[in-house]
Amino acid sequence: MDNQTTHWQHWVSMLEKELAAEMLKAPSPSEVHAKDHILRVLKRCIRLGEKLDADLEVLVAAVYLHDLGRHYIDDISHGALSAQKSAPVLERINFPQEKRDAVLHAIRVHDVSAAPQDRTTIEAKILYDADKIDTLGVVGVLRYIRHFYGKKPIDFMIDDIDARWEGLTLPETRNIALNDYTYIKDYFTQLKKELSTCAQFLSHANEEDAR
Ligand SMILES: [Fe+2]
Ligand SMILES: [Fe+2]
Repeated sequence: MDNQTTHWQHWVSMLEKELAAEMLKAPSPSEVHAKDHILRVLKRCIRLGEKLDADLEVLVAAVYLHDLGRHYIDDISHGALSAQKSAPVLERINFPQEKRDAVLHAIRVHDVSAAPQDRTTIEAKILYDADKIDTLGVVGVLRYIRHFYGKKPIDFMIDDIDARWEGLTLPETRNIALNDYTYIKDYFTQLKKELSTCAQFLSHANEEDAR
């Protein structure tokens, strides 16, 4: 086991406790941004980070804390609030002072409201991409349905999925995510088709009945 690996793992149990405590404190914890989401993003970030020679300590802290603000506001622009909530956590766990700015930067620019050029470090790019991949594939279907189905039209979800895909920054993540993007895009396109077929069937039946 190399040093980097040992170092990032050192922070996991502390960050898990902090995340659990922060979620208990938060007024409206978001189910789709809870620990299972964090663990999927973590796995992708560590794999990508190893491949791209990123700072894994920065990544592990940024992953655990990136959605803290999301449990306070139901808004895609929650990176700044997450960073604000994360600073005291880094202080509490005594995270290396010289790495805190890098963690807070990655958190601040992880949401889609930040422009791609705002992500100036490899860790910020990895977190952004790994986080967005979690909106694709079978898990993405589950998350979109839990969060948006019945509240937003299907076209909104299809457009949002396209925007997530187009916004990916690293060629490595595009390779990893292509199948998941195709899967979820096909799923919602088919769902839209089937639901509109039902609506058409009903309106034809009503017309026939009126004759
Ligand atoms: Fe987020
Ligand atoms: Fe996230």
